[in-house]
Amino acid sequence: MNRKIILGAVITTLLASSGVAMSDDDDDDHDGRKRGLFSRFFSKAGVTPVNNQPYIDECGSCHFAFQPGLLPARSWKKLMGGLDDHFGENAEFDSADAQKILNYLVAGAADTSSAHRSQSINNSIPRNSAPLRISETRYFLRKHDEIPPRYVTGNPKVGSFSNCEKCHTEAAKGSFSEHGVHIPGVGRWD
Ligand code: HEC
Ligand code: HEC
Repeated sequence: MNRKIILGAVITTLLASSGVAMSDDDDDDHDGRKRGLFSRFFSKAGVTPVNNQPYIDECGSCHFAFQPGLLPARSWKKLMGGLDDHFGENAEFDSADAQKILNYLVAGAADTSSAHRSQSINNSIPRNSAPLRISETRYFLRKHDEIPPRYVTGNPKVGSFSNCEKCHTEAAKGSFSEHGVHIPGVGRWD
């Protein structure tokens, strides 16, 4: 093969694989624009996995350790400032780790992360609001609007949309692709 043919083969392969990626992950942003070919290749899918032990210890004890890239920095600051009344529970902890955890959350927040899922979440949140729940962002609501309540709040094996990892089998790795969804007692989503 000469160089031209090799280059042609490489480009064809790239285009073919990008086609698969696009249909695999219907991840348009909030105003419905499809993401370009370039950002498909060069942005990370999913969100950056958690890699901070104090965070896992303190914030992963009652529920899934939500990745920092699921909310913007202003949300994490507000949440960390109100741990004495955290969704009806006292989640305060007596530790020098609080500042470290806040720094960790802010450094990986959705408004700074390069992961495309984080950017989509961030783009769906109005600038003047700081939601405390990922599950109340517009992006989240749009992605979950076809799931009947009986699969979630009416399902004792799930309980609430906050329990991402019950349905997203790869959630701890930062992957929330619909292809990794298995709803307990219901089955695969495909
Ligand atoms: C004492 C238990 C407890 C601890 C510790 C705790 N949480 Fe929570 N958290 C809750 C409860 C309860 C909810 C509400 C869950 C529900 O609605 O099903 C919640 C919800 C959340 C949500 C919203 C999830 C959604 O619906 O999108 C976030 C974000 C969150 N917690 C972050 C944190 C962070 C960060 C920490 C560590 C600083 C932390 N939590 C520590 C009990 C706790
Ligand atoms: C009751 C099960 C369930 C829970 C709990 C749940 N999800 Fe989902 N999620 C789904 C299903 C089903 C889909 C696919 C929906 C569709 O394609 O119509 C989905 C889709 C998504 C998508 C878009 C995937 C894609 O391929 O575009 C993201 C991102 C996501 N979920 C994140 C989360 C996060 C973060 C949490 C926790 C705060 C969560 N989900 C909790 C069932 C769940």
